[in-house]
Amino acid sequence: MAKTILILNGPNLNLLGTREPSVYGTETLADIGKNCERHAQTLDLSVDFRQSNHEGELITWIQEARQSAAGIIINPGAYSHTSVGIHDALRAVSLPTIEVHLSNIHQREAFRHHSYVSPVANGVILGLGPQGYLLALTAIAGLV
Ligand code: DQA
Repeated sequence: MAKTILILNGPNLNLLGTREPSVYGTETLADIGKNCERHAQTLDLSVDFRQSNHEGELITWIQEARQSAAGIIINPGAYSHTSVGIHDALRAVSLPTIEVHLSNIHQREAFRHHSYVSPVANGVILGLGPQGYLLALTAIAGLV
């Protein structure tokens, strides 16, 4: 049976397509989800693709991944820069984890330069737009 990768998206990523297209592009989150499903099939993986605007919900999903997933791909959105809770949850479940950002957070405002998630991720992909999710799937296939 194909292993499941939990792909989590944090706050405001539900607005992709219309949100600051000059920064985040014009693909919607649904488009990204479909492309992830298609790419996962070629890697013999299945994906569970989710988005939440709520930190606690993301933390609960990370905790549940212990039972339901072989690895986690996460774009924590703004919570990257604030959430010790997401850091702790990822550390606790200790599954292979790749952090993704659509934009290159290091080219942007100083408050985006630090991520609480990066120290608990196996790898970080940023600045490559939606393609970053597909690269993360390819990478995590080798880790799970
Ligand atoms: C983001 C970068 C974050 O700084 C921002 O808060 C987001 C999206 C990205 O994918 O580039 O919501 O994670």
